[in-house]
Amino acid sequence: MTLDERYPSLPYLARAARRRVPFFAWEYLASGTGPETLLARNRAALDAVDLVPRVLRGRFTPDLSTELFGRSYSVPFGIGPVGLSGLMWPGTECILARTAARKGLPYALSTTANESPERIGPLAEGNGWFQLYTPVDPEIRADILKRARDNGFGTLVVTVDVPVGSRRERQLVAGVSVPPRFTPRTLFRAAIRPAWSLATLRHGIPRFRTLEKYFDTQTFAGAARQVGKVVDGRPDWEMMRRMRDAWPGPLVIKGILSEEDARRAVEMGADGIVVSNHGGRQFDAAPASITVLPGIVRAVGGKVKILFDSGIEGGLDIMRALHLGADFCLLGRAFLYGTAALGARGGDHVYDILRADLEANMVQLGAASIAALRAG
Ligand SMILES: Cc1cc2nc3c(=O)[nH]c(=O)nc-3n(C[C@H](O)[C@H](O)[C@H](O)COP(=O)(O)O)c2cc1C
Repeated sequence: MTLDERYPSLPYLARAARRRVPFFAWEYLASGTGPETLLARNRAALDAVDLVPRVLRGRFTPDLSTELFGRSYSVPFGIGPVGLSGLMWPGTECILARTAARKGLPYALSTTANESPERIGPLAEGNGWFQLYTPVDPEIRADILKRARDNGFGTLVVTVDVPVGSRRERQLVAGVSVPPRFTPRTLFRAAIRPAWSLATLRHGIPRFRTLEKYFDTQTFAGAARQVGKVVDGRPDWEMMRRMRDAWPGPLVIKGILSEEDARRAVEMGADGIVVSNHGGRQFDAAPASITVLPGIVRAVGGKVKILFDSGIEGGLDIMRALHLGADFCLLGRAFLYGTAALGARGGDHVYDILRADLEANMVQLGAASIAALRAG
C-alpha cells in the first residue's frame, strides 16, 4: 500500500497527525477560540455553497495554473503563515519551503515561525512570501523588512486581525503555553509520542529565529515572553501607509472581513487582501469568511487581488471560494497535518492530494481553467 492510498485526503492526514504528535501540539494546531462556534460555521458555510455541474463539454484536462502579483503558480492555492510550526513537527518551515520551490506555489513564512527568513528564503527559491506582525520599534520594522527582501521574499503579508492574544480554551486545558511549562503531564504526553520526541530532541527546542535577535535574552522562556513586546498587535491605517511606503513589492493585508475595510485597503494602495477569520482562532462571533466573500468582491470591484482562507479542507472548498470571486486561496492547518503525519514528505503529499482533488472535481463541474471556475 502506498502512502498516497493511506492518506487520500486531509481528514485522513489529520487523524494520522493526531496520533503522531503530543496532545498539546495537536490542540495548538486544531483549536479555535472561546466556544469555537466559528470553526463549525466556517465548515457549514463552505458546505452550503453548491456548484452546478455543466455537461457535454468533451474531453479536457483542467489547467490549474494561475497568475498572481506577476508570478505564475501551478495551482490557485498557497501555504498560509503558521506561527510556531516547529511545535507540530520540527523543521516544518524548511519542509514547506522546499515543497513551495518544487511544486511552484507560494509559502508564507510567519513572523513567529521557528525558522528565519535567512534560512527559508533561499529554500523557497522565489516562492516565499513574508508574513509580518508589525514591530513596535521602527528600526526593528525596517530591519525585518530588509531581511525579508534581501532573502528573496517578494510579497509582504501584513496580518491585522490579532489585536490581542485570543483565549483558546482547548490550549489552556492542554497546557499549551508560551513560554512552555515542562510539567509531568506535558513530559508524559511527549514521551508517549516517541517519533515526535526524538525528532524534537534532534532538532532542538523551537526558537523564534526571526525575532530572537531583537530580544535581550537567549532563553526560550525569556524570548517567548518578549514576542508580545516586540510586535504591535494593534497597527492602524497610518502604520499600514508607512508599510506601503517601505515595501516595494506586492503588499497584502490579511484578516479583512468588512467591505468598508476592504475599500480602505484599496485606497491605501494594497495589492491584495486576505478575506480571513484566522481559521476561527481569534474572534468567535466573526462571520464565516465565505459568507462575506461575495460582498467584498463586489466592494473592491477587481482593483486588488482577493485571497481567501479559513476552513479549506479540500479541492471542493478551493473551487467554492474561487467560484464566489476569490483569486487565490491559502491553507493554514492543512499543510501542518501533512508534516506532522509524514515529516519531510508531508508538504508534497498535501499538495498532491489537493491538486488531484481539485483537478477531478473541475472535470466533474465542467471547468477547464481557473478563469472558467470563476465565471461559473
Ligand atoms: C496554529 C496556527 C498558527 C497560526 N499562526 C499565524 C501567524 O503566525 N500569522 C498569521 O498571519 N496567521 C496565522 N494563522 C492563521 C493562518 O494563516 C490562516 O489564516 C488559517 O489557519 C486559515 O484557516 P485554516 O487553518 O482552516 O486553513 C495561524 C493558524 C494556525 C492554525
